[in-house]
Amino acid sequence: MVCLGNICRSPLADGLLRQKVSENNLAVDVDSAGTSAFHVGDAPDQRMTATAKNRGTDISFLRARQFKAKDFQEFDLIYVMDQSNLKNVLSLAKEKEDFKKVKLILNEISNSDAEVPDPYFGGQAGFEHVYDLLDEATEIIIEKIKKNQL
Ligand code: 4NP
Repeated sequence: MVCLGNICRSPLADGLLRQKVSENNLAVDVDSAGTSAFHVGDAPDQRMTATAKNRGTDISFLRARQFKAKDFQEFDLIYVMDQSNLKNVLSLAKEKEDFKKVKLILNEISNSDAEVPDPYFGGQAGFEHVYDLLDEATEIIIEKIKKNQL
């Protein structure tokens, strides 16, 4: 799961998918990263952590790291939150297989190239909206994993 800072959207996507992987007893490794190094080593934004906790998801243990080219070797699928993340991640891709691994996460809900809006400079409603979007997308991802459709 990749966003810009790895302190709002991608840690939530990471925490939601980890939780669902665990609840479904699946053997899937989940991680997240930011395209920037702005917040490396930081815990998720407190507003995202509080929103997630209120709705039953713990993300407090996650720490930000920067996305690296070697992540293409470690992961089968790389979900990005917006077009800017997509561009930045693809700029590090080398192999044909690398390019195929990268997807806009909301295309799991509908194939419309929609973006998860960055909630960082906005209010509480933005964080709730991000939770709704990523809860739905990760639910679909889990169902696809279970049916071997990813
Ligand atoms: P994220 O949100 O990409 O969802 O983690 C942001 C966090 C920090 C900044 C931008 C977006 N920032 O500019 O520091």
